[in-house]
Amino acid sequence: MKKLKLDEEHVLLTKEQIHSGVVRLAQEISNTFPKEDQLLMIGVLNGAFIFLSDLCREIKRDISIDFIQISSYGQKLRSSGNIRIKKDISVPISGRNVIVVEDIIDSGHTMVFLKKYFMLKGAKRVYVCSFLDKLDRREVPLEIDFCGYKIPDNFVVGYGLDAMEQHRCLPFVTKIIEE
Ligand code: IMP
Ligand code: MG
Repeated sequence: MKKLKLDEEHVLLTKEQIHSGVVRLAQEISNTFPKEDQLLMIGVLNGAFIFLSDLCREIKRDISIDFIQISSYGQKLRSSGNIRIKKDISVPISGRNVIVVEDIIDSGHTMVFLKKYFMLKGAKRVYVCSFLDKLDRREVPLEIDFCGYKIPDNFVVGYGLDAMEQHRCLPFVTKIIEE
């Protein structure tokens, strides 16, 4: 497998910046939903597992958690647009507000697909929470309800994000340089 080089000189988000972004998002979410609402967060595997685990612990109330796994990338660094569910959720979502938690939104195809999918399953409303947003790359209109950081069009890794399963567990976010 081709080894992907990290741009460690120009770290995009440090551990501290990641933490303050997560705390801000937790605050925004807490302020949006009344205390008596039972929150349901659905993380998009694999990328969102670290972000979701940090986020849910900063929201000081009980939250139901589930995961969905979809595939669209294969071995490439760009979305193929051909989205497939690899693992579905197991909680009923009919009549409930759902917060979909993503690591990053790029073209927007994955999230548009997921919003439609959860609405078809009967969700009351689907909210989008993404740690990162590459707005310049958007190919379909999409409203993000809770966004951590907007970043330029670079392929980034760390804090749950991978490039062909490499660099997912770095505690910071940085670009990769293809050699
Ligand atoms: P979209 O459907 O093009 O918006 O792609 C969203 C998905 O692509 C995310 O869930 C990520 O898994 C992946 N992705 C997009 N950009 C990056 C990146 O820069 N680094 C790692 N994964 C990415
Ligand atoms: Mg992902």
